[in-house]
Amino acid sequence: MKHPFSSYRKLFPILQRTAQLSSCSQSALSLPVRRAIDDYLEVWLQRGADWGYWMEQVALARAEFARMIHAEPGDVAVLGSVSDAASSIASALDFSAERREIVTTTLDFPSLCHVWLAQQPRGAQVRFVQAQAGGTRTSAQIAEAIGARTALVSVSQVCFYDGQIVDIAATGRAARAQGALQFVDAYQSAGAVSIDVRAQELDMLAAGAQKYLLGIPGIAFLYVRPTLAQRLRPTITGWFGRVDPFAFDPLHLDFADGAARFNTGTPPMMCACAARASMALLNEIGIPAIEAYLAELSALALEEAARLGLSVASPGACGAPVAKGANTAIHIPNAARVEAQMLQSGYVVSARNDVIRIAPHFYNQADEVVGALRELARLTR
Ligand SMILES: Cc1ncc(COP(=O)(O)O)c(C=O)c1O
Repeated sequence: MKHPFSSYRKLFPILQRTAQLSSCSQSALSLPVRRAIDDYLEVWLQRGADWGYWMEQVALARAEFARMIHAEPGDVAVLGSVSDAASSIASALDFSAERREIVTTTLDFPSLCHVWLAQQPRGAQVRFVQAQAGGTRTSAQIAEAIGARTALVSVSQVCFYDGQIVDIAATGRAARAQGALQFVDAYQSAGAVSIDVRAQELDMLAAGAQKYLLGIPGIAFLYVRPTLAQRLRPTITGWFGRVDPFAFDPLHLDFADGAARFNTGTPPMMCACAARASMALLNEIGIPAIEAYLAELSALALEEAARLGLSVASPGACGAPVAKGANTAIHIPNAARVEAQMLQSGYVVSARNDVIRIAPHFYNQADEVVGALRELARLTR
């Protein structure tokens, strides 16, 4: 298989000695990201403090994320984590009336489920759709679970465990039809799957930088549909959620226009430098091209896993259309131990419970994916 992005491999020094296939956990460090972090440190060292530079970097990161999801920068808030983004949204919703149900799935990332469960003392009732690993009916199951009492539907676009994809446009339509809002956790999809918040008519979408966005943890972006943002008032807040954060007015609480009202405290400036550089690289290449290549790698991984007799946890039986993101999960007892053994063999992969996840990005070659699966088969034979 031809690698369409081979000229970019030199930007990722680790690839010279190790096949990093862990984008579902931490993607590879690129030279532009390293330079951006070095620049942050240099500015700190040379100038002591530079609010102008810090705010510019945060604004640039926000603009790159907005560009990636086809939103305006003003529709995006900058927070510390996806969990923070969900908490901030939850704090702005009322669960005391008849419409108090939150629909989510058992395959959503637990941190999000915890945020929704934490709303129970405020009146929320959390309804879990029993999603199956490797399943292909999750989108339909979510749509079926939404009813007149649903206030919020929370879906993970690509599942952290098995990589399955939820059709967020379809679940969003089902939510809208019942007068409910949808929150999309795009942490496992942003940077690898095309997202168009307008075409897909999304209400809210959050993603952090550590995975397919090629950055570091500590920063997350929250898109909120402009007319929706305007009527929400988060009670988890801080000075960067104000109309003018630098007004330093202790007596009055106002809410910035648009998504900025979901900002809280001082933004994660160093993480923003990294995210600005990493998303600029992704936007330069273009997510649709990355998505198409990753689908080819997925098909190849499923084919090779079947040939090796490995037990696949992800959806997409050999030859079937691939309803999954870049991550191919293989059932492995003692997955954490095998992850460490794989590293010794030159493969960075990621264990979760009883699976090893092989999660390439655009910089990976087909032989790295095939090699990792063969090594997995050898180690577990
Ligand atoms: C799908 C998904 N959502 C959320 C998270 C956690 O996000 P955060 O730590 O930024 O709250 C993860 C982390 O792996 C994830 O995979």
